[in-house]
Amino acid sequence: MSPHEDAPSSKERFMPPDSIVSKAHVQGLASYQELYDKSINDNEAFWTEQAEQLHWQTKWSSPICKYNFNLDHGPVHISWFEGAETNISYNALDRHIENGLGDRVAFYWEGNDEGQERTVTYSELKAMVCRIANWLKSVGVKRGDDVSLYMALVPELPAAMLACARIGAVHSVVFGGFSAEALADRVLDSRPAVVITSSGTMRGPKPIPLKAIVDDALNISEGKGHSVQHVLVLEQLPLADVGASLRPGRDVVWREAVDSQPDDCPVEWVPAEAPLFKLYTSGSTGKPKGVLHTTGGYMLGALTTTKLVFDVQPTTDVYWCTADCGWITGHTYVTYGPLLLGATQVLFEGVPTWPDAGRCWAIVDKYKVSIFYTAPTAIRALHARGDAWVTRHSRSSLRLLGSVGEPINPEAWRWYHEVVGGGRCPIVDTWWQTETGAHMITPLPGATPLKPGCATLPFFGVEPAVLNERGEELQGPCEGILVMKRPWPSMMRTVAGDHARFEQTYFSAFRGYYFTGDGCRRDADGYYWITGRVDDVLNVSGHRIGTAEVESALVAHPSCVEAAVVAVEHPIKGQAIYAFVTLMTGVDHSDDLRKELIATVRKIIGPFAAPDVIHWAPGLPKTRSGKIMRRVLRKIASKEEDQLGDISTLADPGVVQQLVELRGK
Ligand code: PRX
Repeated sequence: MSPHEDAPSSKERFMPPDSIVSKAHVQGLASYQELYDKSINDNEAFWTEQAEQLHWQTKWSSPICKYNFNLDHGPVHISWFEGAETNISYNALDRHIENGLGDRVAFYWEGNDEGQERTVTYSELKAMVCRIANWLKSVGVKRGDDVSLYMALVPELPAAMLACARIGAVHSVVFGGFSAEALADRVLDSRPAVVITSSGTMRGPKPIPLKAIVDDALNISEGKGHSVQHVLVLEQLPLADVGASLRPGRDVVWREAVDSQPDDCPVEWVPAEAPLFKLYTSGSTGKPKGVLHTTGGYMLGALTTTKLVFDVQPTTDVYWCTADCGWITGHTYVTYGPLLLGATQVLFEGVPTWPDAGRCWAIVDKYKVSIFYTAPTAIRALHARGDAWVTRHSRSSLRLLGSVGEPINPEAWRWYHEVVGGGRCPIVDTWWQTETGAHMITPLPGATPLKPGCATLPFFGVEPAVLNERGEELQGPCEGILVMKRPWPSMMRTVAGDHARFEQTYFSAFRGYYFTGDGCRRDADGYYWITGRVDDVLNVSGHRIGTAEVESALVAHPSCVEAAVVAVEHPIKGQAIYAFVTLMTGVDHSDDLRKELIATVRKIIGPFAAPDVIHWAPGLPKTRSGKIMRRVLRKIASKEEDQLGDISTLADPGVVQQLVELRGK
C-alpha cells in the first residue's frame, strides 16, 4: 500500500447521506456555494454575522479586517476586529454557564489505562481554570507574559491553556514527546517565567518522566542565560516513581499550590489582536519558529470551523479528536473549538493501540462518540491490524469521521469509510496548518460530495489559488503551488520575535500571496487535492519535521561530518526519514554508530524524529556550487536510480554509484 496511489481522476463520489443533510448547518452543495460566494464577495458581512455568535466586551470598528500581503507595498500585517475587546476563556466557559449549561459535560477523560476515567462539567472546568489563573497571578504572571506547558493530555492541560487566556498570558504548549533539548530551545525562545508540567505519565506501557525532562531542559536554559522562576507540577504519578524531585524555591506541586486557590477569577478583557498563544513548528530552514496566534480572529475561526465542518450539535453529539494539545489540532479542535461551541468531548490520554488495537472503538462505544477526528497515520496503523479489532465493537453512535495532518491515501480512506464508519459516515478530510489556525480546505458533511483522498473545497472566506513556479495564477484544472489570496480570521500574525522571518517564509516567494508550502492539484470540479510539501519539510506520522533540524541533530554527533535527509514513502507513517551520513575521516561505520546517531536525534529533537534509515555516504551529490541535490538522494533512497535524470551538473557524478553500492550496508 502506498500513501499516494490512485490518480485523482477517479470518478468515485460519496454523496452526503440524507440523515446528515437534513440536520446539517449547511445543507447541499448549492447552499455551500451561495454562502461561499457571499463570504468572498462580502467578507465583512459574512464574518460580522458569524462573530455575533460570540461575546465581545467592546465591538470592533470597521473595516473588520486590515491587511497587507504584498511586500512591495510595505511590511506584511494582518489584523481583525480592531478596537474590539474580548476573552476566549469567557467565551469558552462563562458564556455557557451563564446560559444555564454549567452541568453539561465538557470532558469525558479516559486515561492511558482502561478504567482511568474522569468527568468534568463546564462549571467544574471553569473552577479549575480559575484556580490555575489565580495561582498564575499569585506568582506574578501578567497580561502578555509567556507561560510554557509541557504535560500529558489530562484535563489540567486545556484548563491551563484557558487559565493563561483568562488573564491575558500567552501560552506555549510543547508536545510531551519532545526531548529536553527541544524543550530548552523553545523555552529559550519564549523566555517564560513559569513552566507547568506533570511528574510523569504512561504512554502505552512506557513511563514518560515529564518532570525530569523539564529539569534537564531548564538546566540547559539556565546555562544559556534564562532561568525559569516557577515550575508547577501536577503529581500524576508519584514523583519518586518517575525519578523526579522538586527544586526548593522554584517547584511547587499542584495539590498545594492550585487546589487551595479561589474558584473564581475575573477575566481580563483583551484587545482582539492580543497574543493568545505561540506554537513552535518546523520550517524548511533553521530552528522551529514560534507561530503567533491572536485572540479574536482565532476564536472566530475555531468556532465556525468546529461548528460547520464537524457539524457539531452540542446537545446531542459526543465529539472526539485524538490529537494532543501539543499540536495545533489539539489547540483548535480539543481546547478551543469544541468548548467555544459548548460541546461535550472525549479527552484521551493514551495511544490507539494500547492495551490493544480496539481501544479507540471501545472508547467510541463507551461514551457513544458520534464525531471522531484522527490522522491518516493512525488509520493506516489500525487498518494494518485487521478489521476484527474494529468490528468486535458496535460503533453505532458514529455519524461523522474526520482526517487531518497529511494526505490520506484513497485505500486508507475507503477502509475508514467502509469498516470504521460502516459506510454511513461522511469523512471530512481537513487540510490546514499550524499557521492557518483552523480548517482551510475541507468538505462540509451535509454539503460536499466526497472523493476519497481529496480535501475538496475551500472553507468560507478562504480564497486559494494555484500558481506555477513563475508565480502566475493557473485557471481551471491544474497542478502547482497552493497559495492564499486574502487573509482569514485565524491566520498567524507573525513569527514570535522575528517578523522578518514571517515575511520571508510566507510572503517573499510570491508577491501578494500567502505561500502554504504545499503543492496541489485542482480538478475539473474545482476540488483541491493536496500533494504534499514542496519545501524541505517532512511529514512523519502527521508530525511536521524540518530536514534541516534532523541534519543538524545528526552533525551534533562527533563522528558525523555532514548529513542530508530526505523522505521516503512509508506504509503507516506516510513518510519515513532517510538520512545520508558522511563520517569523519578515519571513522568506520558500524551498527553501534548507527544506533548512536539515531539516539542523538532522539535526544536533540524527540523519538518521533528518529531516522528509519542511516545510509553511509562517503560523499554527497552536490552541484559545483556546493548545493546538495536532494532530488538525486530521493531517487537513491527509493531505489529509483534508473530515473535520476540529468546529473551532469554534479561536481562528482561518481558519488552516485558509490551511494548505490552502499545501500543496505
Ligand atoms: O502538508 C500539509 C499537511 O500538514 C502540513 C501542516 O502541518 P502542521 O502545521 O503540523 O499541521 C497539521 C495539522 C493541521 C500541511 O502543510 N496536511 C495537513 N492536513 C492535511 C495535510 N495534507 C493533506 N491533507 C490534509 N488533510
